[in-house]
Amino acid sequence: MDLSDKLAVVTGGSGDIGRAICQALAAAGAEVIVTYVGDLERANASAARVREAGRKASVLQLDQRDEASIDAAAAAVAEHGRCDVLVNNAAWNIGIPFRELESLDSSTWDRVQETNLRGPYLLTRALAGLLTAGGGGRVVNIASVGGLYPASSSIAYSCSKAALIHLTHCLAVAMSPEVTVNCVAPGLVEGTRMAARLPDAVSEGARRGALLGQVGNPIDIANATVMLCQADSITGQTVVVDGGNPAAMNFG
Ligand SMILES: NC(=O)c1ccc[n+]([C@@H]2O[C@H](COP(=O)([O-])OP(=O)(O)OC[C@H]3O[C@@H](n4cnc5c(N)ncnc54)[C@H](OP(=O)(O)O)[C@@H]3O)[C@@H](O)[C@H]2O)c1
Repeated sequence: MDLSDKLAVVTGGSGDIGRAICQALAAAGAEVIVTYVGDLERANASAARVREAGRKASVLQLDQRDEASIDAAAAAVAEHGRCDVLVNNAAWNIGIPFRELESLDSSTWDRVQETNLRGPYLLTRALAGLLTAGGGGRVVNIASVGGLYPASSSIAYSCSKAALIHLTHCLAVAMSPEVTVNCVAPGLVEGTRMAARLPDAVSEGARRGALLGQVGNPIDIANATVMLCQADSITGQTVVVDGGNPAAMNFG
């Protein structure tokens, strides 16, 4: 799909990786709606980067834990009359080492699942009509290698991302043939707020295990996202961006 003049929604576009995705989509020709939950300043900065690339941008508040907020955001997107690309990038994490089972309580578990799994499902469902109507929509879910291997900021986060990867498979079936649904799974991304919440053992394991001597970076994650939006014959797949770490069983 040629992204020129297509409309893309990037959830968490105010975030560290979200901003790179907004910029890459704009560079490929898309108009971008940047969502944020609380940090309007960062959302505006991401929108400014899109405009610097010569594309239209707007910001939209979205709390994907809140069904009413999801419906309101979908209605705001519908006012544009189209939605060609949805990147489910927004997520939340907290650092709880896997062995500290007692520290992972039910409210933390629920917050992680609501943000990282239920929200992407509900938003995709809310936008499915527009994505289908465009005659060739794209959904890209940003998961994590923590969803492939038992190492991440918490057990709750790993489980949310494992489920997001499988949600990708399920939605690829549900939304075919009009819409492709794919996934990008980053490993540790240095310098990000999420990475700062990883237990040291997990970060060190990711660095040590990277075949390329470097972990994943936002530009490669963003470019992989754009590639999956442009591709016409790829669906239900996960692209890992982690510096090459085939045995990433780095228990924290
Ligand atoms: N950074 C890493 O090392 C790493 C590794 C693997 C996977 N990932 C994945 O990559 C994606 C982007 O991560 P990042 O590092 O860029 O994270 P980040 O900088 O912490 O950004 C998170 C984004 O999600 C938004 N958000 C948080 N809670 C939300 C909610 N309830 N409803 C709607 N939006 C919400 C935030 O909005 P505000 O700005 O308004 O707070 C922000 O835009 C995530 O899916 C993450 O799991 C990251």
